[in-house]
This record gives sequence, structure tokens and C-alpha cells, in this order.
Amino acid sequence: MTLLDIRGISKSFGPVDVLHGVDLTLNAGEVVGLVGDNGAGKSTLMKIVTGMYTANTGEIKLDGESILNFSPGERRQKGIEMIYQDLALARQQDVAANIFLGREPTRSIMGIRFVDGSAMKRDAQAMIDRLGARLPAINRPVGSFSGGQQQSVAIARALTFDPKIVIMDEPTAALAVREVQGVLDLIEQLKAEGIGVILISHRLNDVLSVTDRIVVLRHGQAAANLITSQTNMIEVVSAIVGGGDMDHAAAHELRG
Ligand SMILES: Nc1ncnc2c1ncn2[C@@H]1O[C@H](COP(=O)(O)OP(=O)(O)O)[C@@H](O)[C@H]1O
Ligand SMILES: [Mg+2]
Repeated sequence: MTLLDIRGISKSFGPVDVLHGVDLTLNAGEVVGLVGDNGAGKSTLMKIVTGMYTANTGEIKLDGESILNFSPGERRQKGIEMIYQDLALARQQDVAANIFLGREPTRSIMGIRFVDGSAMKRDAQAMIDRLGARLPAINRPVGSFSGGQQQSVAIARALTFDPKIVIMDEPTAALAVREVQGVLDLIEQLKAEGIGVILISHRLNDVLSVTDRIVVLRHGQAAANLITSQTNMIEVVSAIVGGGDMDHAAAHELRG
């Protein structure tokens, strides 16, 4: 069954129409790239999935169940995680504190609850190991880490919510080239665990290398839905800029 089924989503902010009847599906263990020019509506669409924004029309189902009436917190409990561009990390705090921010494991000594620092470190390390992420030291402030390492912490944090879906908004945009592959490897790891991933990215080489499918948003509409193994940079770029609305069926028809 389709894990996430987005149908006919429309959204306007006041007089500005941002999304017009957008469809997008995601299966378990699938990585879908969501691409399009600045302002195409990518972040808005994903914020509608997390519940941060409310759609004007349309339907969103997770495992066949409508989620539009659920709060952001309920959607997170149901397994939807989004990692925002700014990562929302506490820069002065260490890895374990960031992974468990606001949900620190506690233990009780003579009826008084304490944060269980050693359990927190152990669980944080286990999550980092599960991801196969490389971090210099788990007890250093996250603000001292590179962009790629901070991204790893944000992904490890998302994993502690036991997500079915992880949405990543431009995870490699601010990274040094040598760090990009590390983040793509983490996406492969999520996929291997059966998690569905939506990757918003301007870096089309990354998108072509790590995704199974690519959905192109143009002016708030899904302009193309391409199978990555059957497309190429030229086709993706032409869909982004509007060189012809073609999905695979249309492209095959054209090619005969
Ligand atoms: N909270 C908001 N209020 C008003 N307009 C918004 C808001 N969020 C996004 N927009 C507008 O919606 C359009 C799509 O934005 P966005 O979803 O961020 O695009 P993308 O992520 O594809 O670059 C833009 O024109 C943007 O200015
Ligand atoms: Mg955006």
C-alpha cells in the first residue's frame, strides 16, 4: 500500500496561490526527490504534510488513513518527521542532548526524577552507530561540528521518533562538497530501513544519484513525475523550467 498519498492539494496565502492540485505519493523504502525553482511551493507542500500549514483543498493519507485533521504532534506520533533547513539544533549542547531535546530519559532516585545522563549518551551513541554517521565526539557542542555532522545529528534525532517518513529540506545545500556523500549515505541507510524519504534539493546530481523517483513542482503544480533510472539531467531541468510537461508516459509516447 502507498505509505503517503497526497491528492489535489491547493494552498494560497491570502491572494497568492502557491499550490494548485498537487499529487505526490511515497512508498516505504522509497526516496522521492522534490525539485523545482525557488518559490515553486516545495517547502509549503511539505509543511502541509507535517501540519505546520493547512491546505485549502485536497487530501493526505498515511497508510490509508486521512491525517488532515491531526495536529503536527499527532502526525509526528504517526511517523512523519521533517528536518528543516535550519536543523533546529541547540548549538551549545552536545550530541546526546540534541538527539533527546525535550525528551531526556529520566530515572528516579528516592522518588525524585533525574535526567539519566548515561542512558542518554548510550542511546544517542546507539542511534549514531545505527545510522553509520561519523562524528568527532559525542560530548562536544554541536555548534562546533561541520555542516554534514550537524545534519547527521538532526537525522539521528529524527530517527528516535521511529518515523515512517523523513522529509529533508535542502540537506546538502550548505555543505562542503566532500561532505555531501556522507549525507547521501545516510539517506540510503534510511531507505534500507524501509523509511520513505522525501528529499527537497536544488542539487540535481544528488537527486539523480540517491532517489527512486523525482517529482517536479513548477508554479505550484506537479509538472512531472519521473522514474530516476529512466530520466536524466536534461529531462529534469526541462521539467523545472517548463520545456514541456512530460511524465514518463508522455515521454514514451513521444519517443514512440
Ligand atoms: N508563510 C507564508 N506566507 C506567505 N507566503 C508564503 C509563506 N510561505 C511561503 N510563501 C510563498 O509561497 C511560495 C512558495 O514558497 P516555498 O514553498 O517556500 O517555495 P520553495 O520551497 O519551492 O522555494 C513563495 O511565493 C513564497 O513567498
Ligand atoms: Mg523551500
